[in-house]
Amino acid sequence: MAILKVARLGNPVLRTPAGEVPAEAVDQPDFQRFIDDMVVTMHEYQGVGLAAVQVHESIQVAVLEVADNARYPGKEAVPLSVLINPEIVPLDDEIEEDWEGCLSIPEIRGRVPRYKRLRVTALDRDGKPLDFVAEDFHARVIQHEVDHLRGRVYMDRMPDLATLTYLTELARYWTER
Ligand code: NI
Repeated sequence: MAILKVARLGNPVLRTPAGEVPAEAVDQPDFQRFIDDMVVTMHEYQGVGLAAVQVHESIQVAVLEVADNARYPGKEAVPLSVLINPEIVPLDDEIEEDWEGCLSIPEIRGRVPRYKRLRVTALDRDGKPLDFVAEDFHARVIQHEVDHLRGRVYMDRMPDLATLTYLTELARYWTER
């Protein structure tokens, strides 16, 4: 397994919508190894999610896991999951705002409004269909990763950039809400 290089903001790969993964590609050894590498890379950089475009592969794959993460303390756990060709539909209009960061935009956080509840459909890493409801931080992480697969970053979703802050300033000037 290999730790992959993470593309940073400004790299065009982050602004290019990713292609669908053909169903027959899912059980290929190269593809399975790539998923393992994505998981290792996410763990290495303490991410709660990683999209394939962030490691220079323009395909619709995301991995996510929320455990006891030092970068996002106090968030509800989400088991390690792999989403291939994910589609999301908000379940209602309820929006929640919270801090977000991104491994492609190091050291920065901003407050981002996201839908609170989503229906998610995707394939898992074995190519089996998934269909589930995600809420709260889980829904936030999925919206963030699906945005990556559409060529978007979280700053695109901020109605007001005035909350953008470096991590050291976040700890110093902003109290957790
Ligand atoms: Ni990100």
